[in-house]
Amino acid sequence: MRPVLLAAFALLAACGVTASNEQAKEGTERMVAPVLTGEDARDPHSFARPEVARVTHVALDLDADFEARRMAGTATLDLQAADGARRIILDSRGLEIEAVTDADGRPLEWALGPADEAKGQPLTVDIGPSPGSEQAVRQIRIRYRSAPGAAALQWLTPAQTAGGEHPYLFSQGQPTLNRTWIPTQDSPGIRQTWEARITAPEPLKVVMSGERLTPEGEPAGQGRRAFRFRMDHPVAPYLIAIAAGDLAFRELGPRTGVWTEPSMLDEAARELADTERMMEASERLYGPYRWGRYDLIVLPPAFPYGGMENPTLTFLTPTFIAGDKSLVGLVAHELAHSWSGNLVTNAIWPDSWLNEGFTSYFENRIMEAIYGPERAAQEAALSWDSMEAAFEELGRDAPGTRLRGDDGPDEGSSGIVYDKGAIFLRTVEHIVGRERFDAYLRSYFDRHAFQPMTSARFLADLRANLVRGDADLEQRLMLDQWVYQPGLPENAARPDPAAFAEVDEAARAFAASGAARSVPYGGWNTAERLRFLNALPRELPRARLAELDATFDLTRSANAETLFAWLQLALANRYQPAVPVAERFLLSMGRRKFVAPLFETLWDEGEWGRPIARRLYARARPTYHSVTTGTVDETLGHQADSS
Ligand code: BES
Ligand code: ZN
Repeated sequence: MRPVLLAAFALLAACGVTASNEQAKEGTERMVAPVLTGEDARDPHSFARPEVARVTHVALDLDADFEARRMAGTATLDLQAADGARRIILDSRGLEIEAVTDADGRPLEWALGPADEAKGQPLTVDIGPSPGSEQAVRQIRIRYRSAPGAAALQWLTPAQTAGGEHPYLFSQGQPTLNRTWIPTQDSPGIRQTWEARITAPEPLKVVMSGERLTPEGEPAGQGRRAFRFRMDHPVAPYLIAIAAGDLAFRELGPRTGVWTEPSMLDEAARELADTERMMEASERLYGPYRWGRYDLIVLPPAFPYGGMENPTLTFLTPTFIAGDKSLVGLVAHELAHSWSGNLVTNAIWPDSWLNEGFTSYFENRIMEAIYGPERAAQEAALSWDSMEAAFEELGRDAPGTRLRGDDGPDEGSSGIVYDKGAIFLRTVEHIVGRERFDAYLRSYFDRHAFQPMTSARFLADLRANLVRGDADLEQRLMLDQWVYQPGLPENAARPDPAAFAEVDEAARAFAASGAARSVPYGGWNTAERLRFLNALPRELPRARLAELDATFDLTRSANAETLFAWLQLALANRYQPAVPVAERFLLSMGRRKFVAPLFETLWDEGEWGRPIARRLYARARPTYHSVTTGTVDETLGHQADSS
């Protein structure tokens, strides 16, 4: 491995670009993915200096301690280092480090540097040759435990699960949280293969975002079982994920299946019935699925996101279950990340539109393939609305409306990163034609599989392989304006005005004092209902809200998205009958996308809303993940505690 490595480093140093695909080695030796070293790929959110020394492989051996709420054990890291490198810098946040040794157990010098609130602390380990040996250290073992309040981990009490009997654990790594339970270089541009052995008390099962080697677990003493996993493809470290609980599994198709608590299995499997077809559609679009199995886990409602694309095992909120598959765009989205995001990955977080914008575009293509062009056009129109909402909120020419951001790791507005990103790709598709653009995207995923990507490299690739010197095409695409400038370029592909013609007419009629009875809400699909609710005037008198509620039974909506849209409208108008429903909703799940805006709406309602917000948050906060409390704390001016 070593000569290849040196060649790679020489190349990196010489021209500041990545090693080519050939240098990512496959076979008996582990595959090592190159790191980009250009200025556009420098990660401000990691302490790592990969050009000096980098991690290539992580082996975890950890006990999940539900009493102490800690992961405890060892992480053994394989390293590559430039000649003469004496230190490797890892990322760590709140980890309690006990010891660092080399592979043979010889102690190594290490130090934790000053703490930064977001980045954590650099963990520097001495890897220079030890006295009496010329051999630099190429493997280190860290004995450590995570802090009870580790931001990536949520330890649920039995009461927070569907079964109510057993505790539960899940992790959320993106963007920079995995350093709270794994001491490694936590930068999306530093890909690593990994393996893990995790023990948990019986009867809990452990699942992770890699190949399962011990489906039933192995006895591990004292009423515990060990579960082993392996990921042989180099992945960005934010994609290492774990869940443990009372889990059951059901197959959905030959390569797909769903994990969840036993009592949730039927409804989860029903909602996810189209997953295998989605995979087939994705492969037809952009090439082979390269990760083996595609399973999903439907987590307890505390999960702070809609979904998270952990390789081989997408994590999902249960709030996507509506009973009619109307919210499975989420599944298409997380599946699409198996190409955009997991295969070709943003090298740094300011480039996250390369993950999320591509994925939102891809999601819509999957939806079109499975559910038809009408539903896809409607969802694309809703996405346009989200982009417009972001422009409204930020200002049309605000710096935050650039696709290539320069903010913190989790700062970009989703209306920009996801929706403007997708609309950019749809615009390119319309200009060059679908067939040609699909062929290009497929080749893009092939060329850059298992490698990091930056905005500049993507544009260079597009120019080399799609534009190919066609000056007229170059001019029509407005590529640099799309990626680097704020606002919306004039060539943007607009949504089909027919998508919601009937709905918009009905919303206008209702706004002009029409009766709710004459709105055909009951016959509409979820996209149409959402468009309608969001198109209504933001200020409505109590009687009009009551009319809407009574006619469409909004308060009892079983669909989390429409319930959310209704509650936003109702609370913004101080509609008291909505308060108990909001209370139930906010206490029943912790998905940030729903929780944070509802608290914000209440907060904005001053003397009416603030006492309600405070009262609800006092009860709900202990049930939320740190991702969600982090955002709501800011709105409510809550003093975050250490837990
Ligand atoms: N990768 C994201 C979730 C994420 C983004 C986690 C940024 C941490 C930081 C995931 O793929 C995602 O986009 N989820 C969306 C759903 C999607 C349909 C828009 C969500 O959770 O709402
Ligand atoms: Zn996503």
